[in-house]
Amino acid sequence: MTAPPATPRHVAIIMDGNGRWAERRHRPRAFGHRAGQKAVRASVRACRERGIPTLTLFAFSSENWQRPREEVGALMDLFLRALDSEVDELHSAGVRLDFIGDIGAFAPALRERMQAATLRTAGNATLTLNIAVNYGGRWDITQAARRLASEAAAGRLVPDDIDEPTFAARLALAGLPPPDLLIRTGGEHRISNFLLWQLAYAELYFTETLWPDFDAAALDAALEDYARRERRFGRTGNQSRARA
Ligand code: IPE
Ligand code: IPE
Ligand code: MG
Repeated sequence: MTAPPATPRHVAIIMDGNGRWAERRHRPRAFGHRAGQKAVRASVRACRERGIPTLTLFAFSSENWQRPREEVGALMDLFLRALDSEVDELHSAGVRLDFIGDIGAFAPALRERMQAATLRTAGNATLTLNIAVNYGGRWDITQAARRLASEAAAGRLVPDDIDEPTFAARLALAGLPPPDLLIRTGGEHRISNFLLWQLAYAELYFTETLWPDFDAAALDAALEDYARRERRFGRTGNQSRARA
């Protein structure tokens, strides 16, 4: 018997290809980043409509600071303006907004808006939307290790208490199910230091579509592909089909 099409509980997206989208139009890269905002809105709406409870978007990596100053500046500007223009609508749609990453590196105005948006939407339950900013998977694992070491130094735990669940509880996205499906737009087949721990068993989906062109139909193509996957988690095919 074929299992009914599975809906992922958590979709994570590496939103890549804004720069190339703009360059193809002979426009500055920032134009592509602005166009990407529309794809963010479309994905959030599509996830809500399809009953996907958690969406995590990679917006700015810990490595993206190395880009030209004007591009980083344009991205910071865009984040600031998006926080001012989008939060009302997200809030009325019941979206709980959260930010993962090393937020301390951002300008105070940006940090304050992120914190305000998180607080304001904390009670919402339709969709949890995590935006990864100044995020790196290695940073995430390192900060969890640092927290465990401080707790051990303070006598609140002993090294033998550290197992996978205690470690995971100190990582970004703690308390949420790990991503079932990772989508990367823009044609590259790599993780680029996204959720290294949390993606251990995610199904990976790569598409040539550039992020500004990503829409509900593109999400549906990814979801259809996902529904055909057999997730075995180390077991044999027979074992996993018997459990389904
Ligand atoms: C993704 O698009 C957005 C960020 C990394 C901030 P890119 O800007 O990486 O676009 P390409 O890969 O250069 O086309
Ligand atoms: C990954 O895209 C980061 C984000 C989408 C925010 P990049 O464009 O930075 O990745 P690389 O440099 O091609 O690996
Ligand atoms: Mg890129």
